[in-house]
Amino acid sequence: MSETAPEIRKGLAGVVADTTAISKVNPETNSLLYRGYPVQELAERCSFEEVAWLLWHGELPTSDQLAGLRESERAGRELTPELREVIDRIPTTAHPMDVLRTAVSLVGAQDPHADEATEEASLTKAVRLLAQVPAVVAYDQRRRRGQDLVPPDPELGYAENFLHMTFGQVPEPVVVDAFRVSLILYAEHSFNASTFTARVITSTMADLYSAVVGAIGALKGPLHGGANEAVMHVFEEIGSAENAEAWLEDALASKRKIMGFGHRVYKTGDSRVPTMKAALDRLVEHYDRPDLLELYTRLEAAMGERKNILPNLDYPSGPAYHLMGFDTATFTPLFVASRVVGWTAHVMEQAADNALIRPLSEYDGPDERHLT
Ligand code: SDX
Repeated sequence: MSETAPEIRKGLAGVVADTTAISKVNPETNSLLYRGYPVQELAERCSFEEVAWLLWHGELPTSDQLAGLRESERAGRELTPELREVIDRIPTTAHPMDVLRTAVSLVGAQDPHADEATEEASLTKAVRLLAQVPAVVAYDQRRRRGQDLVPPDPELGYAENFLHMTFGQVPEPVVVDAFRVSLILYAEHSFNASTFTARVITSTMADLYSAVVGAIGALKGPLHGGANEAVMHVFEEIGSAENAEAWLEDALASKRKIMGFGHRVYKTGDSRVPTMKAALDRLVEHYDRPDLLELYTRLEAAMGERKNILPNLDYPSGPAYHLMGFDTATFTPLFVASRVVGWTAHVMEQAADNALIRPLSEYDGPDERHLT
């Protein structure tokens, strides 16, 4: 009986693997909802802590709930001496994503409740990672620059404290606000590669820390989270706006993927870009960098004309983080600090109605044969 070959969907493109109530990515309406709220409204009016609560719990927090989250997040910000010692043993030449992946692994190894999978235990772990990731990212950038650790300030909110630990001070409100906006926009995006990685790991009943470590590995790649860092390298390669078109011709001729452009789901533009671009515009004005904006605009226009491919969130985020003063290698760890909320929300959702994730494969190797 002739078997019809099954349809292979490489990269699982267009495959609906499960349902989720956490976010809705709608390429038709070019929109993104977090638990039903348009992400643009949340970015306009909410703190990152409020959005974290929303993604984890399904509703925005009451003032008491928000106070409780803030208290537990602020109580968990200190790097333990052991964690700082492990970070200090990692060469400063290591990629910050490798440092962060290692740090999360140690936080998990140090947690006596790591394997507890109740929702309460998972939420406690999620808040611990929310608090610890900024401490690791900030310290790692400072040690690479030969600077001392800046301890967390419990009087400061999440975004302000992250910037304080990184730069030793809280920058002007326009910078803090752009950072807050980026954290909200990066927090969640349905079954992207790193989130799906976390769900696959959770589906085997492995622990939350293992799921986050796996997700960090997936996010590092330049086709995914690593693109925001790669966008800045592209800007540095191009140098100035007048070189943009020629650079693009060469890059496309050598079949390079242009970092910060295109998306597996959005095909008429990433819904988050206008909000992040507006924040970038405010930073450009604040730091008086019209040259950077001209390069951004020229490359975007050239990419539209040559390939009709639009920017994704990483395109405005890269130059925005550059203007804020972060090292380029720190950009994707910033994505982790935000997306750890989405990942842990999906870990809890997967665990609550679990089925082992194990797709099929179509064999195309040698026919059966035997040793002589
Ligand atoms: C993120 O999934 C998510 O939601 C991810 C994310 C999230 O919030 O979690 O949104 C975050 O990862 C955003 C994407 C960041 N990555 C980049 O900026 C890297 C550059 N982008 C490309 O690699 C690409 O656009 C992908 C990987 C993002 C999407 O690729 P797809 O869906 O596999 O689309 P495709 O490669 O099939 O594109 C179709 C065509 C191809 O041309 P042909 O080979 O058919 O001639 O468009 C071309 C592609 O080569 N193309 C590009 C391009 N993106 C697509 N050509 C040059 N540069 C690009 N950026």
